[in-house]
Amino acid sequence: MKIGIPKEIKTNENRVSLVPAGTEALVSAGHTVIVEAGAGVGSGFSDALYQAAGAQIAKDADAVWASADLIVKVKEPVEPEWKRIKPGQIIFTYFHFAASEQLTRAHIASGATCIAYETVELPSGELPLLTPMSEVAGRMAVQEGAKYLEKLYGGRGMLLSGVPGVPPGRVVILGGGVVGTNAAKIAAGMGAAVVILDVSLERLRYLSDVMPANVQLVFSDRHTLLKQIAGADLLIGAVLVHGAVAPKLIHREDLKVMHKGAVIVDVSIDQGGCVETMHPTTHENPTFIVEGIVHYGVANMPGGVPITSTLALTNATLPYVLQLANNGFQQALRKSPALLKGLNIINGKITHRKVAEAFGLEYHAAGSFVD
Ligand SMILES: NC(=O)c1ccc[n+]([C@@H]2O[C@H](COP(=O)([O-])OP(=O)(O)OC[C@H]3O[C@@H](n4cnc5c(N)ncnc54)[C@H](O)[C@@H]3O)[C@@H](O)[C@H]2O)c1
Repeated sequence: MKIGIPKEIKTNENRVSLVPAGTEALVSAGHTVIVEAGAGVGSGFSDALYQAAGAQIAKDADAVWASADLIVKVKEPVEPEWKRIKPGQIIFTYFHFAASEQLTRAHIASGATCIAYETVELPSGELPLLTPMSEVAGRMAVQEGAKYLEKLYGGRGMLLSGVPGVPPGRVVILGGGVVGTNAAKIAAGMGAAVVILDVSLERLRYLSDVMPANVQLVFSDRHTLLKQIAGADLLIGAVLVHGAVAPKLIHREDLKVMHKGAVIVDVSIDQGGCVETMHPTTHENPTFIVEGIVHYGVANMPGGVPITSTLALTNATLPYVLQLANNGFQQALRKSPALLKGLNIINGKITHRKVAEAFGLEYHAAGSFVD
C-alpha cells in the first residue's frame, strides 16, 4: 500500500504522524511510504532520517495526497487540504467531527474513508489513540493554567503551589478520565488543593484508590459543581461523551462565582468545549478574557510539545497503521472491532451515531460497509 505522510499545516502544529522507526516497519512489510519534505522537522526528524528508513520524500503536499492510498495525519484536514482528498482515499487522523458541521460536510462531499483516531475504541471502552494525547494535554493543562495565573498574563497573580505560610491554589477538574487524572497528578504534585468532579461513580471509586490525599473526589451535579467552582483558581474542562459534542456545564453567569483573574483551561474544546463562553484558540493567541476570567481554549495542546507528543502518539497509532496497510481497509476493519468503531464517514455516509446526531444527519451502521 502507498502511505502518505503530509506535513501538518494547522497553526503551530509541529507533530508528525509517523516517525522513522515506523517508516522502517512499514517499508520492511513491503509498503511504500511517501513523506512530505520537512514533515518531521518540528518533531526532531529530518528528511534524511526518513530516507535512511526507506521513505520517499515528496517535494510538496499535492504530491503526497495525489499518490497515497492511505493518508496518515495528526490533525483533521484543514480547508486548503480538502481539495486534495481523492474519493475512496483512506484518511486516518484525529477528526473530532461532532465539533464542526463544516468539516463533516466537507468530508462527506469528498468521498473519502475517514477513520478517526478519537473513536477507535477497545472492548473495555478505552480510547487507545486518544489516551496518549489526553495524557499530554492533561499534564499540560496545569502547566498552562499555572502560567496564565501569573499577573503578566491576565491572571490573579497566584503561585499554584503556594509557599510555606501561604496556602496553595484551588484546582477544580471537570471529568476524571485520562485528561482529568493526568491534570490532577501534576496539580497535586505541585501541592495544590485539587477537586475532581465526575458523573461516573465507578471512576470516582477507582480514583479514590489511586489519588493522593490532596485530591478530593466529588460526584458532579449542577448543585455540587457550582459549589466547587466558587473560589476556584484554575478550572480544567476534561469531560467527554465518546464521539459526541461536549455537554455545556459552565454558563456565563457561573463565572461570577469564580475569583477575578482565575483561569479556565477547557481541554474538551476539541469536542466543542464544556464552558459556554469558551471558543477555540491557537498556540499563537491562546487566551482571551470574559467576565474577568482568563479563558484558554487551544484545540491542539499537544502540538505545543511535539518532541513528546509525536512519540507518544505514534507509539499508539503505528500498530493500527500496520493493520490497515497489511490487511487492506476492508479486512482490517472486519478483523478489528476497535478500528471499525473508528470509521466515521465512508462513501459520503456517516457511520458514527453521535456525529450523525450532532447535525441531524442520517446514520448508517459501519459494519454494512465492510461485509
Ligand atoms: N485540547 C486538546 O488539545 C486535547 C487533547 C487531548 C484530549 N482532548 C479532549 O479532552 C477531552 C477529555 O478526554 P479524555 O481522554 O480525558 O476522555 P475520557 O473519556 O478518558 O474522560 C472523560 C470523563 O468525563 C466524564 N464525564 C462525562 N460527562 C460528564 C459530566 N457531565 N460531568 C462530569 N464528568 C463527565 C466521564 O465520566 C469520563 O470520566 C476530550 O474531549 C478529548 O478529545 C483535548
